[in-house]
Amino acid sequence: MNTATKNLENDHVHILKLIDVMKSIVRSGNPDVEHIEKIIVLIREYADGLHHAKEEEYFFPALKEKGFPSDRGPVAMMLHEHSQGRNFVKGIADNVELFKQGKESALEDIFRNMSGYSELLTNHIAKENNVLFRMADNALTDSEQKNLLDMFGKAERDGNQLNGFIAQINDLAKHYNV
Ligand SMILES: [Fe+2]
Ligand SMILES: [Fe+2]
Repeated sequence: MNTATKNLENDHVHILKLIDVMKSIVRSGNPDVEHIEKIIVLIREYADGLHHAKEEEYFFPALKEKGFPSDRGPVAMMLHEHSQGRNFVKGIADNVELFKQGKESALEDIFRNMSGYSELLTNHIAKENNVLFRMADNALTDSEQKNLLDMFGKAERDGNQLNGFIAQINDLAKHYNV
């Protein structure tokens, strides 16, 4: 059976691939600003704009109904990490602007924020996959999983846009051989 938790785990596969691209760019020490700008858009529109929106607007509220509050415990931690992630992305974006204006030292801050985001999201995804989603699988009935999946489908209404994000991530992954 396809479930809401499997749908979210599938997003994680693509997000982790994007993180591998980020790690590869940091390792190379040689930034391709165009690629970094593309990554910022992919995080803001796909990882945060779509995936985190599915979690925050539908999935976490469904867990709340099952006795997992959003102001403490694992869900609160996940929400806090989403917001930390947004701060790292802002750090990347702000410093890319400074770098483009000629401030060479901004490069270090770009890489520092990219590494911070990569580490945060890698751990975040592991916690969701291994702990939170497994708790959700135990707590949600089949029909509740299905209802959530239907709502995710509405959030993903533009299938072309979704496939476009995934294709762009795959192109970057191919380019960086990750
Ligand atoms: Fe999350
Ligand atoms: Fe997630």
